[in-house]
Amino acid sequence: MVLQISPMEMKHFYDIEEILSTEFDDFWSSSILKDELQNSNSQYFVALINGVVVGFAGIWKAVNEYHITNIAVKKDMRRKGIGSSLLEKLIEVVKSKNIDSITLEVNFKNLSAIELYKKYNFKQVGIRKKYYNQTDDALIMTLFLN
Ligand SMILES: CC(C)(COP(=O)(O)OP(=O)(O)OC[C@H]1O[C@@H](n2cnc3c(N)ncnc32)[C@H](O)[C@@H]1OP(=O)(O)O)[C@@H](O)C(=O)NCCC(=O)NCCS
Repeated sequence: MVLQISPMEMKHFYDIEEILSTEFDDFWSSSILKDELQNSNSQYFVALINGVVVGFAGIWKAVNEYHITNIAVKKDMRRKGIGSSLLEKLIEVVKSKNIDSITLEVNFKNLSAIELYKKYNFKQVGIRKKYYNQTDDALIMTLFLN
């Protein structure tokens, strides 16, 4: 399996839309993602295997920190290191910009994502009560870079 992490481009949207429609009912819509490609404060990447998108992830800049907006891997491709490779790419980009920290929100029930972030040394710094659908709490997790 040769994995490649590349900047997201319009040509990837055929695959991305298929992933979003079949696997992520309440995740980001492709139109929001397309808008993000035009946003100079955002950077998005895709994970490709043989040129086919199997995952994607993005960040946007807010003053002197970056925020991870999403990270997703196709269900049948999980637990193969693809999420880690995407996250490593995001961390590498932020480190190159002399920025203090990377922050994200994650549903407190989303143990696979929480474990992924912990593996990369993200620490829980707070909770947003009933952040998801006014029901589930979000953990706020931060990676301090300096
Ligand atoms: C979270 C997600 C991106 C992880 O992607 P992945 O490609 O499976 O991750 P990796 O294979 O790189 O796993 C890295 C680490 O994450 C943790 N992890 C991933 N899946 C896990 C699971 N099902 N249970 C426990 N830990 C898990 C482990 O620590 C793992 O390291 P290990 O394999 O050495 O044990 C993927 O599960 C996903 O797309 N989930 C749905 C979208 C989502 O919830 N995104 C997060 C939004 S905040």
